[in-house]
Amino acid sequence: MSELIKWGILGTGRISRAFAEGLKSVSNGVLHGVASRDYYRSKAYADEWSVPLAFENYLQMAESEAIDAVYVATPHTQHAENSILCLKHGKAVLCEKPFAVNHGQVSEMVAQASKSNVLLMEGMWSRFPPLMKELRKVLSSGEIGEVRTLHADFGFKPKTREPEGRLLNPELAGGSLLDVGIYPLSLASMIMGKPESFVSDWNRGSTGVDEQASCILKYDNGSMALLHSSLESETRQEAFISGTEGNIRIHKQCWKPQKMTITSRLSQKEKIVERPFAGNGFNYEAEFFGQLLLEGKTDNEIMSLEESLAIMSLLDQIRDSWGLRYPFE
Ligand SMILES: NC(=O)c1ccc[n+]([C@@H]2O[C@H](COP(=O)([O-])OP(=O)(O)OC[C@H]3O[C@@H](n4cnc5c(N)ncnc54)[C@H](OP(=O)(O)O)[C@@H]3O)[C@@H](O)[C@H]2O)c1
Repeated sequence: MSELIKWGILGTGRISRAFAEGLKSVSNGVLHGVASRDYYRSKAYADEWSVPLAFENYLQMAESEAIDAVYVATPHTQHAENSILCLKHGKAVLCEKPFAVNHGQVSEMVAQASKSNVLLMEGMWSRFPPLMKELRKVLSSGEIGEVRTLHADFGFKPKTREPEGRLLNPELAGGSLLDVGIYPLSLASMIMGKPESFVSDWNRGSTGVDEQASCILKYDNGSMALLHSSLESETRQEAFISGTEGNIRIHKQCWKPQKMTITSRLSQKEKIVERPFAGNGFNYEAEFFGQLLLEGKTDNEIMSLEESLAIMSLLDQIRDSWGLRYPFE
């Protein structure tokens, strides 16, 4: 492999375009191929984004010697199948969040990555911007003491509400928890680890999926995370971390983190930390992933496969507690 990762995009929907844009600000990779279920869409996308290779289908890209890494940007329900296809052909895979629909699917992806000995990572892009690096540093420095509570939410009102669209359609694993609730949940996992127990409730919408969901996670040291997701209304989209010696507010949009305010309990002094994106933000995960690939790594510490499995298991348990199963499960 050269020092420049040749990326392929699998699926030509909305988020693939944000990723293609992000790749423009990456120093160790370029967009080299695109694959759609329909060749004409691949071709149109390749023309629009000046991509050298337009593949006829996903398999052709998975088989191509010209591609090093694939970004999977299909609906949640296709993540496992599409990732496994690429992993089987030795491609490194960065797969959009949620990693798949349930723990069983993620386990199969992880097993295939291990069998093929290739890099696999969940595309939880919020983990990689510079502000998150800074946040992890502040938390481990003890500046705000021991974290006792996290409040975080991500709610928005989609412009359109077609029941067959991927946000509300149970056949495409729709619902707020898997689409946006995963951001606060992943943040809680990064900061507080694996919960000991949880309680949760949901609002079942007309298509049968969760249009709102709330969850309280409790950890073995007694700390707690209060999380909320919604497809019904726009929420604050902030995160508030309370420690014994201070607190941190991650400003809107906390899933696209660029600004935080750290307040000391004793002095009540506020410190504002701003780390604006260079690029559109997707560049950070792509650059990080590219570096792992160039170093020959198959896993990493920032978004490990073990943690992705634990997050998926928790998502399963939360849905189980409501009695929400998708038709294909
Ligand atoms: N990181 C983020 O901020 C972020 C934001 C939005 C979404 N996402 C994630 O990205 C994934 C894709 O979301 P999106 O909003 O880009 O979706 P989208 O606009 O619907 O695009 C998905 C693409 O997947 C392909 N596809 C393959 N099988 C499909 C099927 N059965 N039904 C529909 N499309 C299918 C289609 O491309 P072809 O037909 O060309 O193959 C389609 O254009 C989701 O898992 C979502 O959670 C992440």
